[in-house]
Amino acid sequence: VVAALRPGDLEGVTVMVTAGPTREEIDPVRFISNHSSGRMGYAVARAARQRGARVILVSGPTGLAAPAGVERICVESARDMQAVVMEHVKECMVVVKTAAVADYRPAERKGDKIKKQAAEMTLTLVKNPDILAELGRLKKRPFLVGFAAETSRLEEYAAQKLAEKNLDMIVANDVSLGDAGFNVDTNRALFLFRDGSRQECPLMSKDELANRILDQIASRLPAQRR
Ligand code: CTP
Ligand code: CA
Repeated sequence: VVAALRPGDLEGVTVMVTAGPTREEIDPVRFISNHSSGRMGYAVARAARQRGARVILVSGPTGLAAPAGVERICVESARDMQAVVMEHVKECMVVVKTAAVADYRPAERKGDKIKKQAAEMTLTLVKNPDILAELGRLKKRPFLVGFAAETSRLEEYAAQKLAEKNLDMIVANDVSLGDAGFNVDTNRALFLFRDGSRQECPLMSKDELANRILDQIASRLPAQRR
């Protein structure tokens, strides 16, 4: 219903959406990941397509079906996601980074299954590349939308990410609330923008929130970029 009010307002625009968790392998049978369901990103991809965009969906493992008409590229690790995103970014006017990228990966992936031994073990992790920050450093930057999942000091941390990663917009979720963010069908959010403006979105379905995000993007895309 919401999308029908803005039919085709993203025609001629290519949007990349990243969604879901990443998986960082420890050995052939184990990995590090997080609770991201991918639903928010898939909702953005579906809504953008319904509004006429060409949509490239770069997805971590979610078990979700690709929305109709969306070009999906499936990835596992943060570094896989980075490679695919950087390969396709030149085609894109807009990038929406909903993915919950693992911040760290095991320093080494063991070729053989790790056998249990002592009562304690230590796994050394190393930092993954920050894909969004890398996009923010590009000379020809697309319109960049980040997400911030926080459990405290929501606005402060989100504003910091907006500035540090050189974004146009950030969607901040308080994931401590239970009805927002990870693994639920609803979300409430705070939008912060490069120009210092802010907008609060009350609790709504992820499909509705996706359209609210796209409303902001559509109205802020410079005419010459269309
Ligand atoms: N992000 C990314 N690459 C990473 C980590 C995060 O592209 N290696 C992106 C996410 O997709 C999201 C935004 O950065 O759009 C913010 O992610 P978040 O985890 O909230 O912030 P971090 O910068 O990782 O900081 P922290 O987890 O310490 O809060
Ligand atoms: Ca993080």
